[in-house]
Amino acid sequence: MNIEIIEPRSFAAAVADEIVASINDSVEERGRASICLAGGGTPSGTYRLLARPPWGSETPWKQVTVCWGDERWVPSDHVRSNFRLAQETFLTHVPVSREHILGINTTLATPEIAAQDYQDRISAAIPTNPEGVPVFDLMLLGMGSDGHTASVFIGSEQQWQNSDSLCIAVEHPESKEPRITLTPKVLFAARRILFLVTGTAKAEMARTVLEGEIQAPPLPAQLAREFGERVTWFLDSAAATKLVNRTN
Ligand code: 6PG
Repeated sequence: MNIEIIEPRSFAAAVADEIVASINDSVEERGRASICLAGGGTPSGTYRLLARPPWGSETPWKQVTVCWGDERWVPSDHVRSNFRLAQETFLTHVPVSREHILGINTTLATPEIAAQDYQDRISAAIPTNPEGVPVFDLMLLGMGSDGHTASVFIGSEQQWQNSDSLCIAVEHPESKEPRITLTPKVLFAARRILFLVTGTAKAEMARTVLEGEIQAPPLPAQLAREFGERVTWFLDSAAATKLVNRTN
């Protein structure tokens, strides 16, 4: 597991650099790159940079497929939509082909139908491993101050732990807002996994997730600890303040 601790003012650019480098590596090695986006507020600064020089011009967007790790059960133009976040910050400003933008369809009848639809579409679009799990080249993940990631919330284990499901409908534990999320089976199958965590509000949970005892069952973000070098945590210095074994 790699940990990069970045000053807040340089965080967005450092992550954008890593994303562009990872996309270029994938395209060089395999001709295409698939990226699965995180939602929430943390990635927005990075996403904005992806549309700007040098990042926008250094990315082979025509060879990129864009998906989402999770979505809120809202229209795609809703202010809380993760799809809208990506569209507004960079996707409408870069030449990714529309057929290579695979959003979670929240116009379907129910979150459960949308989850199955999304599972079917990404399984058809993204190369799978021998177990039939889509393997993204790059997975972007955030972390809540409660240790959730994507919309894999604490206490949801029975919905995904012993299941073949790759995408499920869940509820946010507090707001009860319906969500659709890829399961850890997909989130952590990716070749490269970048966690983006900023702010003092997440410092205690960052220490717990990165350095604390792995809980039983593990906090969702703690699941990443078994995936070694494929995982890189980008923390800003505020989120890293409580780490004991700071690496830089
Ligand atoms: C979402 C995300 C969620 C997010 C974390 C952190 O849809 O909200 O998938 O997992 O990454 O909650 O959110 P912030 O970046 O807003 O702190």
